[in-house]
Amino acid sequence: MANSARVWLWSALLVFSVVISASADDFVAEESASAVLTLDASNFSETVAKHPFIVVEFYAPWCGHCKKLEPEYEKAASLLSKHVPPIVLAKVDANEELNKELASTHEVSGFPTLKILRNEGKNIQDYKGPRDADGIVEYLTKQAGPASVEIKSSEEAVNLIGKKVFIVGVFSEFSGEEFENFTQVAEKLRSDYDFGHTIDAKLLPHGDTAVKRPVVRLFKPFDELFVDFQDFHLNTLEGFIEAASIPIVTIFDKDPVNHPYVMKFFNNQNAKVLLFIHFTDEHFDSFKSKYFEVAENYKDKKLSFLLGDVKAGQGAFQYFGLEESQTPLIILQQNDGKKFLKPNLEADQIATWLREYVDGNLTPFIKSEPIPEANNEPVKVVVANSLHDVVFNSGKNVLLEFYAPWCGHCKKLAPILDEVAVSLQDHADVIIAKMDATANDVPSEFEVQGYPTLYFSSAAGKLLQYEGGRTVQDFIDFTNTNKEAAADSTIHSDSIKDEL
Ligand SMILES: *[C@@H]1O[C@H](CO)[C@@H](O)[C@H](O)[C@H]1NC(C)=O
Ligand SMILES: *[C@@H]1O[C@H](CO)[C@@H](O)[C@H](O)[C@H]1NC(C)=O
Repeated sequence: MANSARVWLWSALLVFSVVISASADDFVAEESASAVLTLDASNFSETVAKHPFIVVEFYAPWCGHCKKLEPEYEKAASLLSKHVPPIVLAKVDANEELNKELASTHEVSGFPTLKILRNEGKNIQDYKGPRDADGIVEYLTKQAGPASVEIKSSEEAVNLIGKKVFIVGVFSEFSGEEFENFTQVAEKLRSDYDFGHTIDAKLLPHGDTAVKRPVVRLFKPFDELFVDFQDFHLNTLEGFIEAASIPIVTIFDKDPVNHPYVMKFFNNQNAKVLLFIHFTDEHFDSFKSKYFEVAENYKDKKLSFLLGDVKAGQGAFQYFGLEESQTPLIILQQNDGKKFLKPNLEADQIATWLREYVDGNLTPFIKSEPIPEANNEPVKVVVANSLHDVVFNSGKNVLLEFYAPWCGHCKKLAPILDEVAVSLQDHADVIIAKMDATANDVPSEFEVQGYPTLYFSSAAGKLLQYEGGRTVQDFIDFTNTNKEAAADSTIHSDSIKDEL
């Protein structure tokens, strides 16, 4: 639940698409002599075993992104075949019955999926590079080389480090346990980060001879610009790299340069703090500096911070059910899905608000439509703020539908539920209800993966997911079979008792 919430959130935020460059147009693939190997289940293993480095594309003939990639992939294969040693590109039609198992053992869940197989297929990594021919060639040339490159001059250092996260190991010699552990971590993380190693710390930006070797220096184009680390245990080093490459405050705007960090932000395990403000707001600078100060103070408290431009945040606003008029606002989401909100925030309130959160003095924020004043249709309207009263505290038998306004199956079901409700109107111990699950938070007791989802809560509080047929009679039979005598009638819901 918490996990899927996380994925939903960042996909809502990051609606950007892969752009394939037009450089394929000047290249005509010769059908007779494709540079891309065609593999299937019969010869996959033997081919992979022959090549220390091979890239495999799993595709499906009907997939549009695969078709766009095809000429680029072909051109890259032809260029890379001249590389010494050759870099081999292959493809597998994952739609073919006999190849399906091959695809599933390689964890293919969408098309196209590209995998880099090294060491006779014993080491498999996801391809995380660009999708145009030149980009593919550049990325794979680097991937086929050593995981960490030796830095021998300061020009090299400047060229390599550039405007990205870059990790350098500084050693007194290129051997020993520290160096081996560093190389192993570089191998493991090479598709996500760039690595280098050197004997001479003076060659590095901000370098000096006083650096105590061995040390790992992580360069980043944000925050303190570089940070040193001297623990060479494999897991600790890996953890350090992951943590240090997330900015203290992740910036979220329309600039795609920031998007990899935004993804990292949502993928990490911390609770997330998001501040949304118009970046053109006259008070932006004072918000920004106060926010950075707070983030710095709390960075060891399992909190991650994001500063978002209202213009880029429409997806997030919809997801949380917020309005632009509430900005500047700050919202905190825990991994269990619990949220806290402060709308119409002032810069001076950031620190106090967070202190109150840490001290446990804030009440969670629940996305809810207003409780309806009149609720006199046969099917009762439930909202997040009335759900517990109606479903759990009314002492009645409740059949509750979670729906989405845009869902076709829900629209078909609506007149059926109306009829069920009318038929059961004389049963004071039965409530037929519905909740718009896109406009209201669904409490953790329910698992709503698709629409419509129906639950039945008996008078005694037994909760069942409804998985029966969808005719009027099916619902009536189910309700009559599962309902229990109404509980103590002194407990009932204020929000609906008048209508019953
Ligand atoms: C693998 O086998 C398929 C036919 O089953 C063939 O079309 C393809 O060329 C073979 N690939 C290699 C590299 O031998
Ligand atoms: C290298 O990593 C292994 C596994 O984490 C660890 O046992 C070993 O102590 C590390 N070596 C050094 C010098 O830190």
